[in-house]
Amino acid sequence: MAGNTFAVVHGYSAQKRAQIRAAADAMGIDEAYLSRLVDEFYSRVRTDARLGPIFVGEIGDDWGAHLARMKAFWASVALNAGVYSGKPVPVHQKLDRVERSDFARWLGLFRATLDDTAPTPEAANYLMVRAERIARSLEIAMFERTSDGIPSLA
Ligand code: HEM
Repeated sequence: MAGNTFAVVHGYSAQKRAQIRAAADAMGIDEAYLSRLVDEFYSRVRTDARLGPIFVGEIGDDWGAHLARMKAFWASVALNAGVYSGKPVPVHQKLDRVERSDFARWLGLFRATLDDTAPTPEAANYLMVRAERIARSLEIAMFERTSDGIPSLA
């Protein structure tokens, strides 16, 4: 029996997690870079004329907890670190000031932050693809759900 059979965390074996981390490492993605990315991205979000007020309306002036949560989130997404456990969908569904077009703005700011900070073009691409996928699923959850919870086809 394989040595890692019982070492399954979040559906991945220890070996698979090590492979993901090695691939991320080769692109220059580690916790230190993700921390920098999150700090820089949300400092841009905060001063954005459209997104800034949405965030400030939710979290006021105390960005510490949000930034820590987002660093854990990105470590889990990009490094499969398993350090984030939250439920982004209901959190976003409660944000009634958000419009569909805000997602393009969010993604544009994220892309620009990656272009300015990413250690390699591969890192920028790897993180952007993941942000786009998650944005799409949040957008569907926020704007294409009918009252019975089933995505509408409209
Ligand atoms: C229109 C675009 C978006 C807006 C306006 C928005 C806004 C927000 C706000 C206001 C919060 C709550 C902050 C707090 O109370 O701490 C939040 C949380 C969060 N957002 Fe977004 N967001 C957007 C897109 C995204 C995208 C594309 C991602 C992922 C790639 C994302 C990931 C998260 C996560 C992980 C949390 C923390 C959820 C939790 O565990 O509490 N958001 N967002």
